[in-house]
Amino acid sequence: DWTMAAYRRVMIDKIRAQVGKGRVICGLSGGVDSAVAAVLIHEAIGDQLTCVFVDHGLMRLGEADEVVRLFRDHYNIPLVHVDASEQFLNALARVSDPETKRKTIGKHFIDVFETEAKKIGGADFLAQGTLYPDVIESVSFTGGPSVTIKSHHNVGGLPERMHMKLVEPLRELFKDEVRALGRELDLPEAFVGRHPFPGPGLAIRIPGEITREKLDILRQADAIYLDEIRKAGLYDAIWQAFAVLLPVRTVGVMGDGRTYDHVLGLRAVTSVDGMTADFFHFDMAFLGRVATRIINEVRGVNRVVYDVTSKPPGTIEWE
Ligand code: XMP
Repeated sequence: DWTMAAYRRVMIDKIRAQVGKGRVICGLSGGVDSAVAAVLIHEAIGDQLTCVFVDHGLMRLGEADEVVRLFRDHYNIPLVHVDASEQFLNALARVSDPETKRKTIGKHFIDVFETEAKKIGGADFLAQGTLYPDVIESVSFTGGPSVTIKSHHNVGGLPERMHMKLVEPLRELFKDEVRALGRELDLPEAFVGRHPFPGPGLAIRIPGEITREKLDILRQADAIYLDEIRKAGLYDAIWQAFAVLLPVRTVGVMGDGRTYDHVLGLRAVTSVDGMTADFFHFDMAFLGRVATRIINEVRGVNRVVYDVTSKPPGTIEWE
């Protein structure tokens, strides 16, 4: 793709010009965006870059390992792996408001980065994989008064005390362009084609309070859902698919017993850039199969529903 080959060269020059001899710290989220940003910056400035993967305990099953392996084995880019799950989950205990969740997670990310930056003797820049749609959605509805739809935890500058400037080489790109750039940079196809995953992770897929137990239930159910989607050959036709654990319990029957367990919502959408989306039309037999597997295999869920809301008026995530 000649456009992306050109973009790569231009951005490498820009990054070098912006950073000079400075040190850069880059947070990896496990998603495509931050991975592409990191690989691009590494190509530009080599070991002036330190990558940090903060495991906030809100990742999907197996996600943390995949990122760590990609960076260490495929690219040989040094990576600091911080297990901060205790810190995050403690801070999120009893928090149920969606905006407070995002802000709490954002604040702790910054704390962890500050600590890691100190350990490497200070960093002058913080790199992020912010995309164009993140920039717009965090600012305002076009034309209207300035209303925040959601605080993307990774947008909005940094506290003064950090004395770090932002490096955001993907700020002008849409998702499909980031994927093209990822291919240009030789990221494995399985990684480039990954569904987007939000920075606040599973925290915004558990409306209400987050507990370790709920996170475990959600991880198992989500893994089954995605497994069935892959087996049906539908993964690449879908922009994003995930499960949401609802703070609602309903009555069911299992064997001779009565159950009183969580409802699980399934979401799948098609989209070009995440700004608008349509719900995905699965056939009912597929949904039935997924529901049966989840209810049989995941303790704590006894009812499964499918979300048929498009964006707008819904958002893709539930919080
Ligand atoms: P919504 O739910 O706003 O999501 O329709 C649009 C896209 O953005 C992702 N998303 C986020 N990504 N930090 C991120 O890095 C966030 O705080 C965040 N919130 C939503 C969402 O998964 C979807 O792809």
